[in-house]
Amino acid sequence: MNEQNRVIAALKPLLADHLDDATLAKLIETPKTSDLGDYAFPVFQLAKIFHKAPQQIAADLVAQINQAGFEKVVAVGPYINFFLDKPQFSHDLLQTILQQADQYGDADLGHQGQVPIDMSSPNIAKPISMGHLRSTVIGNAIANILAKVGYKPVKINHLGDWGTQFGKLIVGYKKWGSEAAVKADPITNLLKYYVKFHQEDVEHPELDEEAREWFVKLEAGDEEATKLWSWFREVSLKEFMKIYNMLGIKFDSFNGEAFYNDKMAEVVQMLTDKKLLKESRGAEIVDLTAYDLNPALIKKSDGATLYITRDLAAAIYRKRTYHFVQSLYVVGNEQRDHFKQLKAVLKEMGFAWSDDIHHIPFGLITQGGKKLSTRQGHVILLENVLNDAVDLAQKEIDAKNPALANKQQVAKQVGIGAVIFHDLKNERLNNFDFNLEEVVRFEGETGPYVQYTNARAQSILRKAAVELNARADYTITDPAAWDVLKQLAEFPDMIVRASKAYEPSIIAKYALRLAKNFNKYYANTKVLVADNEKTARLAMVASVSQVLTQSLALLGVEAPAEM
Ligand code: ARG
Repeated sequence: MNEQNRVIAALKPLLADHLDDATLAKLIETPKTSDLGDYAFPVFQLAKIFHKAPQQIAADLVAQINQAGFEKVVAVGPYINFFLDKPQFSHDLLQTILQQADQYGDADLGHQGQVPIDMSSPNIAKPISMGHLRSTVIGNAIANILAKVGYKPVKINHLGDWGTQFGKLIVGYKKWGSEAAVKADPITNLLKYYVKFHQEDVEHPELDEEAREWFVKLEAGDEEATKLWSWFREVSLKEFMKIYNMLGIKFDSFNGEAFYNDKMAEVVQMLTDKKLLKESRGAEIVDLTAYDLNPALIKKSDGATLYITRDLAAAIYRKRTYHFVQSLYVVGNEQRDHFKQLKAVLKEMGFAWSDDIHHIPFGLITQGGKKLSTRQGHVILLENVLNDAVDLAQKEIDAKNPALANKQQVAKQVGIGAVIFHDLKNERLNNFDFNLEEVVRFEGETGPYVQYTNARAQSILRKAAVELNARADYTITDPAAWDVLKQLAEFPDMIVRASKAYEPSIIAKYALRLAKNFNKYYANTKVLVADNEKTARLAMVASVSQVLTQSLALLGVEAPAEM
């Protein structure tokens, strides 16, 4: 059972008339150091009820409390300190983890409710940026965490495959491009046309007019425009898939912005029916003054629809298709206002479920403290970052464990895992600096460090070569094991917290802490010495490996058994 419930159960017979379970739970504290017990209950609140000094109340309660299941329960000033029964605790916990294996930590908060997660969503004909990389790995981790607590995530890549930029791209391609060049290096060359368009249109504003016309044609289904567009989309997506494959990330849907092209008329009609559309300088807007937001621009004066119009259609489509219980958008913090507008317009339209839409923002990746620029060739850069990480991992493995089998595969798991872990260990809203050498280090707060700790646990188990039976006696009395045991017990709680805050860093930080605690324990304890707690110690080693592997898997990082 959850150990805190043990404390509640002990207090309840004495306090049920005055405090309910939820209040008890809220009052229970975890002392900073374990010499003050595993849990503490402050009694200040009871002074008014019992008309006694807190110290006296604590002493009186301790005299009456049923101490079964605890090593001891003592009054210290106005606190009651609870010390868990360590042998019992270790036995119960290790049995539970070995029995439940991969299911340890599962919860059913979601009741299988569907949760679309809008993630990655790069723009066609442009490189995937570091921001899109963040969205991809954060979204993937959130999907894993939500699945663990009983939701059904639906990972949607809302590709930026529609919009006025396609008019510009078509003009650019027709003026300066060639089929051969696009085939040879799609993203680099398509981006070149787009960049050139923006250089040229300064002196040739008529280019803008041409581009606008092409986009209007595209929206109307013109054959030539559609053909070019779908070709650009196809070659870009192929490039993106390389990166997704390297990261080991899959999507449930690639319905991008273009998918909503035939679904926007209905949205505009609904807005009209609800009298929400207003004309402003020829364009159609929804006024959001009441929300302290800029107006949402729904339709331009030439009839072209906009980013938010497509997002409105997408939100409604997702509600109808998935009957979602929550709908998430893992998108950089700079789009905060866009998502506020989106929610506000949906609210104005009368959709109560607009409250279930959550923008999950994140900060920037910097290099040497500076914002990364999304200039030309960046897609190659991102692929390079991943390849360089694998190379670095390979070098490290060559030095540390040259005889390792399937070194190349392990180097991939370590290098790519390092980049993902580095992204996820920071609270997602924080900006962080990217320095490849630091990311791939085998020591310190890195993914490889956690992977390495797991591999070490695995090697201990291989050496011991015993079959661990989930029903054996797993009593550990050694106080040196206590921190590790208690931390293993926290895992289910961490997952719940991470799921509620949409915060993978909670899991990453937990894994780092567990790895550190385990290494400290291992440095001072002879795990394999033959005494009557040897099997229990091995069960703990197996449990650590189990929980580290699961933590990494939740983050989307693999855990090689040897490295
Ligand atoms: N393609 C957009 C960009 O790169 C991100 C799309 C986010 N998702 C959405 N439904 N608006 O900025």
